[in-house]
Amino acid sequence: MRLQDLSNEDIAALRAQLEREFELQKGNRLSLDLTRGKPDADQLDLSNGLEDTIAGNYIASDGTDTRNYGHIRGIPEARALGADIMEVPADRVICWGNSSLSLMYIAVSLLMERGIWGDGRHWSSDPAPRLITPVPGYDRHFVLTERLGLGMVNVGIDEAGPDMEAVRELAASDPGIKGIWCVPKYSNPTGCIYSDEVVAALAELPKQAAAEDFVVLWDNAYAVHDFEFPRKPLANLLALAETAGTADHMLLFASTSKITHASAGLGFVAGSDGTLAALEARLNASSVGPDKVNQLRHARFLNGRVEAHMAGHAALVKPKFELVQQILDAELAALDIASWTRPEGGYFVSLDVRAGLAGRIGELAAEAGLALTPPGATFPYRKDPEDRNLRIAPTFARLDDLKTAMEVLTLCVKIATLQDEMNRR
Ligand SMILES: Cc1ncc(COP(=O)(O)O)c(C=O)c1O
Repeated sequence: MRLQDLSNEDIAALRAQLEREFELQKGNRLSLDLTRGKPDADQLDLSNGLEDTIAGNYIASDGTDTRNYGHIRGIPEARALGADIMEVPADRVICWGNSSLSLMYIAVSLLMERGIWGDGRHWSSDPAPRLITPVPGYDRHFVLTERLGLGMVNVGIDEAGPDMEAVRELAASDPGIKGIWCVPKYSNPTGCIYSDEVVAALAELPKQAAAEDFVVLWDNAYAVHDFEFPRKPLANLLALAETAGTADHMLLFASTSKITHASAGLGFVAGSDGTLAALEARLNASSVGPDKVNQLRHARFLNGRVEAHMAGHAALVKPKFELVQQILDAELAALDIASWTRPEGGYFVSLDVRAGLAGRIGELAAEAGLALTPPGATFPYRKDPEDRNLRIAPTFARLDDLKTAMEVLTLCVKIATLQDEMNRR
């Protein structure tokens, strides 16, 4: 029965029963964790074959000796791998380092200090440069943005992507709005995929923006992380931007972090000829070249079989997401006290509870031995204005721990909501 249809007596009885369960769980001295958006060891094992790919042959397809310096943009087969994942031409890709986040940091700091167009336009010439941040979103984008001296302006996001009307209005009315963060496929944390209309609108956005140096930061971290195959399509931002004449205002990122080994993968950035040249110059100033041996390993291991490899991940990850849905459905749906997303890929489920209760639920969970991503972390400055969003990261926990963790989480949601309801009545 829905909470709002329960009598005061029913609510008091249910609350008492749930609080007894809570005391029992506390007695179990649990140590559970739903914060870790990373692959578990079984997933990492899928890529141990990387080790066997070199076997003394370090020479890339173009004759490059990958053990030596040079090749800032990466070897051809690694750029082809990035192109396959990002669905862009290989000559539009730089393969660099082990982390797309560090490429984002490099790109945003370059945009702040010097720009990427070679004509003097750069963000720090504005007294208060800001980026549009669809929320809830990825906490590390927010930290990076703040650290590099930019402000943030929130817009909402739904199953089709950011609220483009709000985005357009902001961008068109204020030259201090310099860009927008996007996680277009299996967004962190909502799991949505941007609709064709939203992607087309983003491709046009730099033309409508008041800032002449507006950039779409396209973090496609989960481009190939589907649970079912063939993979779900995503409209092609770079191709649309070419047509719209805005390709110089698009920076696309991806990596193999959650494809192979999270700490030893490859980062990719894609863009126009001009912007890649600017990025290459910046990278060249800090290094004599990337780890091309790792590039060669990845290309030999993954080229031509990305989807088959990701099907291996899906077989391990999908049951965890299904378990999360089962428990949310079983424990919260009838009471109608929360809403959550049902992603078909990626790493997260986003849970919205009654406004004002996310922090309290986090405290209750901690008391019961369950670590949750700190409420607020999915918003800039760690401030969820409604205090209602919680991020669930199911991949790293083992199935039995995940089950207990979800039971504790839903118990905490119910207790906090019943307490709140009793206070209101
Ligand atoms: C949206 C998003 N972007 C980037 C990253 C990190 O990527 P990388 O390991 O390539 O730095 C993550 C990791 O959780 C993520 O969720």
